[in-house]
Amino acid sequence: MTARLDDLPIRDDLRGQTPYGAPQAPLPVALNVNENTHPVPEDVADDILDAVARALGEVNRYPDREFTALREAFAEYLGHGLDRDGIWAANGSNEVLQHVLQAFAGPGRTAFGFAPTYSMYPLLARGTGAEWISGGRAADFSVAPEDAASQVANAAPDVVFLCAPNNPTGTPLDLETIAAVYDATDGVVVVDEAYQEFAPRDTPSALTLLPGRERMVVSRTMSKAFAFAGARVGYLAADPALIDALRLVRLPYHLSALTQAAATAALGHAETMLRMVDDIVGQRDRISATLDALGYEPYESWTNFVLFGGVDDPRATWQALYDRGILIRDVGIPHHLRVTAGTEQESTAFLDALASIDSAA
Ligand SMILES: Cc1ncc(COP(=O)(O)O)c(C=O)c1O
Repeated sequence: MTARLDDLPIRDDLRGQTPYGAPQAPLPVALNVNENTHPVPEDVADDILDAVARALGEVNRYPDREFTALREAFAEYLGHGLDRDGIWAANGSNEVLQHVLQAFAGPGRTAFGFAPTYSMYPLLARGTGAEWISGGRAADFSVAPEDAASQVANAAPDVVFLCAPNNPTGTPLDLETIAAVYDATDGVVVVDEAYQEFAPRDTPSALTLLPGRERMVVSRTMSKAFAFAGARVGYLAADPALIDALRLVRLPYHLSALTQAAATAALGHAETMLRMVDDIVGQRDRISATLDALGYEPYESWTNFVLFGGVDDPRATWQALYDRGILIRDVGIPHHLRVTAGTEQESTAFLDALASIDSAA
């Protein structure tokens, strides 16, 4: 007989919580967790393999605790006058965000985000013992500068998450709103740019706001545009002093030598790795246009996914697609579903299957 979780002396604030649990089903078309469904190009994969093989030659030793070469590669990729002292990285941007919360949130403190937003923020915050505060968005899921600033000023959180563009809605967030939120708080402001590469090309990044804002963090990931979700590599840019705070909470040698080698090699091919972004953006826009033609209500998206409303019974539609071998995401917003833009073939499979199900409200 095995014990039940409730029988264990678990922290009181974790009792009754549910873990992150997006279904991982072996279906032919998986468009549910905003991955890049294009594999890493073969020539890049060969180079990564060589780098990993070289790292294996020294795997008996602990890796470079400061992942110096990787931080240099991220600084070069991001530009904006950054150097390695202003870069941090970890196993996925989830861990990067966890480091920020461990250093700046924790017991007796609060973290804030505009709901609906990335579902891991509250879990990560509570994992550090912090309380989560949900702010609100307009009916179209946008947030205006004055409204954002007044909500943040009222909540007075220790950490604010601004997901730009926002998951699960795809909504853009302008720099004016980000700057207004920064001015409205004494806390740390995290701008999560996990999907920035899918925004229109001329869109300025929050990286342009970093100089002079020592409480601001801009986080990114290799999981989406870089097609590197399985390698688990996320990173951030911030003032070097803020990064010193993250050194206090990370585990020593948290980035394995193999991860460092693979990510550094992949960044050496940034252009090739990002080649699929335009294709994905094209599929995203085709999905939106077709959803609209089918009678659904897709939202503007600057990401690699589309949230759409007008779904009579999301659970039933999700199941009907599942039964046709297509996995998308019920994000818990009534009458809405979210789909990741896949390859042309995958996106067509989704659209054809949806057209065959009569589920528009
Ligand atoms: C907004 C946002 N931030 C962060 C992440 C985490 O990405 P990873 O931990 O793979 O870098 C995701 C993943 O879906 C996301 O949507």
